[in-house]
Amino acid sequence: MDRRKAAGFHVCGFYGIMALTNPGSPGNAEVYMKAAVVYYSRSGVTKKIAEKVQAKFNADMVFVEPEKAYGNFAASIIRVIREKTGKKNPAPKTPPADFSVYDTVFIGFPVWAATVPDFLQEYIRRADLAGKRVISFATAGNNGRDESLAALKALLPDSEITDYFYTSMKEPADADAWLEGIRE
Ligand SMILES: Cc1cc2nc3c(=O)[nH]c(=O)nc-3n(C[C@H](O)[C@H](O)[C@H](O)COP(=O)(O)O)c2cc1C
Repeated sequence: MDRRKAAGFHVCGFYGIMALTNPGSPGNAEVYMKAAVVYYSRSGVTKKIAEKVQAKFNADMVFVEPEKAYGNFAASIIRVIREKTGKKNPAPKTPPADFSVYDTVFIGFPVWAATVPDFLQEYIRRADLAGKRVISFATAGNNGRDESLAALKALLPDSEITDYFYTSMKEPADADAWLEGIRE
């Protein structure tokens, strides 16, 4: 190896080691972010994005189940309308996870009745996410972007909500580009 090449190797080697040992160095967010992905998906659209998050950040998955499965599209619509006009708030079957080990919690959901599904809202209420960074992703037919974010902000006054992602059938957004833009 000539001397110039050797010097190049040392410089690359040095910064390579720095990058591995310094959690603040750019480009290593996925190595050092300790993340969980909390999500619900009835028909699989949100699940696909949850799996991308899991793969990119090596995140632990928490699927939040409703007390009783919603069934097909028509049955879900009828039940959600009934729940919206009823007195009892729908609840999750899944108990809140222990989030103390995570610094970042992703929350993914399909927009229902222009907002976060009520049983998932109840899960978020029960979970202790104070002081966490919360990164949310919503999938929808055609509306509910701002309403969902407003609901999350109201539910999580003590969390830092960043990098909100919304995609809809009407205006699909690029989940890979969103993931690329997330910094530690
Ligand atoms: C009960 C129910 C209510 C829905 N309400 C809305 C809505 O208000 N606005 C909207 O844009 N899409 C609505 N959708 C469509 C879903 O948000 C959309 O299809 C979503 O991407 C499905 O995600 P999933 O496959 O992860 O369940 C609704 C779907 C269901 C089943």
